[in-house]
Amino acid sequence: MICFETHITDATLEFFRQNLKSLSNFEEINFLLKKISGINNFFTSQKEATELSEKIKGYNSIISEPNRREYGDFQTNKNLALQITEYAFSKNQDFEFVLEPTCGKGNFILASIKQSNSIKKIVGVEIYQPYVWETKFKILNHYLLNKVALKPEIDIIHRNAFEFDYEQLAKSTSQLKTLVIGNPPWVTNSELGSIDSKNLPQKSNFKKHSGFEAITGKGNFDIGEYISLIMLKCFENHDGVFAFLIKNSVVKNLIQYQKRNSFRINQSEKLNIDSKKEFNVSVNACLFLTNFNTEPDFICKELDFYNRDYLTTFGWYKDKFVYSVEDYDKSSIVDGESIFTWRSGVKHDCSKVMEFEQVNGHYINGLGEEVNLEKKLVFGLLKSSDLKADKTNTFRKLTIITQKKMGQETKYIKESLPLTYKYLSSHKEFFDKRKSSIYKDKPDFSIFGIGDYSFAKYKVAISGLYKSTHFTLVSPKGSKTIMLDDTCYFIGFDNLKMAQIAHFLVNSDLVQNFIKSIIFLDSKRSINKDTLMRIDFEKAYKSYDFKIVKDSITDLNIEHWEEFGEMVKDSVNEQMTLS
Ligand SMILES: C[S@@+](CC[C@H](N)C(=O)[O-])C[C@H]1O[C@@H](n2cnc3c(N)ncnc32)[C@H](O)[C@@H]1O
Repeated sequence: MICFETHITDATLEFFRQNLKSLSNFEEINFLLKKISGINNFFTSQKEATELSEKIKGYNSIISEPNRREYGDFQTNKNLALQITEYAFSKNQDFEFVLEPTCGKGNFILASIKQSNSIKKIVGVEIYQPYVWETKFKILNHYLLNKVALKPEIDIIHRNAFEFDYEQLAKSTSQLKTLVIGNPPWVTNSELGSIDSKNLPQKSNFKKHSGFEAITGKGNFDIGEYISLIMLKCFENHDGVFAFLIKNSVVKNLIQYQKRNSFRINQSEKLNIDSKKEFNVSVNACLFLTNFNTEPDFICKELDFYNRDYLTTFGWYKDKFVYSVEDYDKSSIVDGESIFTWRSGVKHDCSKVMEFEQVNGHYINGLGEEVNLEKKLVFGLLKSSDLKADKTNTFRKLTIITQKKMGQETKYIKESLPLTYKYLSSHKEFFDKRKSSIYKDKPDFSIFGIGDYSFAKYKVAISGLYKSTHFTLVSPKGSKTIMLDDTCYFIGFDNLKMAQIAHFLVNSDLVQNFIKSIIFLDSKRSINKDTLMRIDFEKAYKSYDFKIVKDSITDLNIEHWEEFGEMVKDSVNEQMTLS
């Protein structure tokens, strides 16, 4: 039967049928329910008890589920909740207090009750009333079917978690072995902003808790992250365990903030789950488990949830935030500052007009038009997806490079390149439609990410979009350099041998280990300028012997090798590429 928008099982229904009379006095039925199930204030008013009684007498209603996007509502299935709870209890058999701050349909609470008879107190908080009912009915059903003498004191509270006084609850339960378990909402404040939702913590709440300012400072924070931080802050001094299903990005942030927060947690674990299988969503998520009331530590072990295979240990190590402590240990020597300035490629935001393919010697633009241009401003263009090979001097696409430097006047095109000018001006509306403010008040047909460095003959390049850490050596086609688009990063050289040595070094085991040790591959754009600027070329150079490098680069002689060594010497402060 459906009542209070929740399903009531046959066993529970039968119980209420037998006690229909008591439903007319909600204090009497509450007394009975507390005895059977431990739940305090099962009905909070006579109105609620009467509503159920009427339903049982034959009135049925089915209300369709409202859109719950603003509540980040991804209920944990019974099986997963059970496995997570079992794992949490394997860390500590005798929890006395279980808290689930956004308990939804109560699967973690039920799983905890099934795990242990030592629990003295359970608190669940949930904003959505039908879920509050569902949780209460599930617990009642459990105790109707499993009659045990001792029941915990249970409060399933219909409340906004952001308004609940967890500090007070922490004080009153400070002597109890505590399990804080659950799965907070999967939603960010900016998603809530976009649907004009009020399901956000009050600004004043942030201020009350030291250490959270950084989150308010960030444009976009995750509600699950906020609730996790509140839990860690309030319960860090309890004996017990924290076990939350959260997004990978949230765990990364929690460990990153740990440097500043120094919460009394340690032996943290991140156990990766398959969210597609468990929740039918493509969000990288995991179980984050940590021990309270311990000397703080600042690292986290990453494992596979299903087979417990060890993956990595990430966190603060040697004062740096790293993805793999082991790899970083082997390669931290090259963690420094790149003498070369890594650049991203050209940006035009006008691919239909500015990019061509060459078909039978003709340029065809993104609109399918055949285009007639002087060759002068036409360059080969590589995108992230073109950087799979170790070396290349070919390209699929071409582009028009209208400027040599950002902001350069483009009137010269009209004077000296009539075909190019005719083409660009006949498609001017496409340029004028570009939304980004970077093009505002700039010369016609302006592009971005262009400078002397773009015209270096040889480039050592990497995709900023893909997960590969391999670098490609890009050589000119004929005499003309090949351009990269703004999804790629590169350093440029005019001397092939210098480019080859740099290419060798960035693909060496040492530098590859280093890059892999500092990037979190499931973060967006993990390969970025900041990462690349940490490659210390001098240290990498000194770690390799000429004899080894010589075997990888044809016709490399000692003079080339020494020339590169001079170029990357720490004392040489100037950028060696054309910057
Ligand atoms: C990701 S679901 C998980 C539910 C449950 N913990 C589980 O694991 O199945 C998040 C829950 O948080 C609830 N919720 C969202 N915002 C809330 C708020 N401000 N206060 C309390 N609960 C909230 C949602 O209604 C939803 O039940």
